[in-house]
Amino acid sequence: MKDWKLTLAEDGISPESVPKRTLASGARMPVVGMGTFGSDTYSGEVVAAAVIEAATLGYRHFDCASVYGNEALIGEALRIVEAGGVPREELWVTSKVWNDMHGEGDVIKSCKQSLGDLQLDYLDLYLVHWPFPNFHPKGCSGDYHNPNAKPYIHAAYMKVWAQMEELVRRGLVRAIGTSNMTAAKMKLVLRDCKVKPAANEMEIHPHLQQAELFNFMTDNGIQPIGFCPLGSPSRPERDRTPADTVDTEDPVILKIADRLGVHPAVVCLMWAVKRGEVTIPFAVKRTQLLSNLKAAVENPLTPDDMQAIARIDKNCRLIKGQVFLWREGLSWEDLWDLDGVIKQ
Ligand SMILES: NC(=O)c1ccc[n+]([C@@H]2O[C@H](COP(=O)([O-])OP(=O)(O)OC[C@H]3O[C@@H](n4cnc5c(N)ncnc54)[C@H](OP(=O)(O)O)[C@@H]3O)[C@@H](O)[C@H]2O)c1
Repeated sequence: MKDWKLTLAEDGISPESVPKRTLASGARMPVVGMGTFGSDTYSGEVVAAAVIEAATLGYRHFDCASVYGNEALIGEALRIVEAGGVPREELWVTSKVWNDMHGEGDVIKSCKQSLGDLQLDYLDLYLVHWPFPNFHPKGCSGDYHNPNAKPYIHAAYMKVWAQMEELVRRGLVRAIGTSNMTAAKMKLVLRDCKVKPAANEMEIHPHLQQAELFNFMTDNGIQPIGFCPLGSPSRPERDRTPADTVDTEDPVILKIADRLGVHPAVVCLMWAVKRGEVTIPFAVKRTQLLSNLKAAVENPLTPDDMQAIARIDKNCRLIKGQVFLWREGLSWEDLWDLDGVIKQ
């Protein structure tokens, strides 16, 4: 292991050739990153091994979170990647503070824990995972409700955000951002923050395009990072409903995939990249990892393809967030401020 060098695989993608999006902080973020949420399907060991494989294929961007429960294993993998000769500055590592660490001092504590687990001195990007302090036991059923759950309370969120800003001041993170935010909540944050969110991680795939929110974010200099870009085909049963649609089976996606000779998943990623997103597909299989990164550098989608995909939006949200609801009688739509008003 001592003399092991991480060499780019023969069929790998040169990391320099992967386009970057420049955040308001000036940092340049690779447009395709590897998601690391193994969910119930893939163990931390499998995901960590995939991180090393991904690095040999040219990945430099990894999307992590404390709640994924695998940061210590990913930290081991990143240490191997760095020991193999990849300098820290070439890596982009994102992590997120989970909903049970929103209290005074907790955000800083959680960030330090992630840094320790990931064996890093700083994170490139640190996100508030959800705008609610509501959490649930691992593997709970889809209709679980925490009796202590609360609605979005802006003053409480700004206390979380002030700790995020402190992390920037202390040099523990290079940029900070949000996740699962709505325009209504973001307007308040933009009004009251000292450091603007550099990015917002949000669910985006061809059947949930969120065009209005996407444009709101980019108009305000906030980079959208799309999660579940392939429609999360391996998500657990508790996150499935009979009404959910399947992006990779959409006739428009299938027709383009057929013409280009790629998997329909790759078309979803090409669309995401061409639209200006940073996208973070999850994969542990080598062929998938490779074709997903290739979508960043080989992107023959035409303006007609982009328009055809723009027309297949079905507003089909997969990660509905129902476990975060704070009182009886609410439905998951109430989490998303659809009429522009923050539900209490
Ligand atoms: N901020 C948030 O609240 C939030 C929420 C959810 C997710 N995320 C992040 O977003 C990442 C991605 O989301 P996700 O894992 O739910 O969904 P996803 O990336 O849409 O789907 C991943 C699955 O798609 C399949 N796949 C991947 N590449 C493929 C390819 N080239 N061809 C065919 N199939 C392919 C794999 O299934 P098989 O393994 O079955 O082959 C893989 O498990 C997560 O890992 C996490 O980092 C963030």
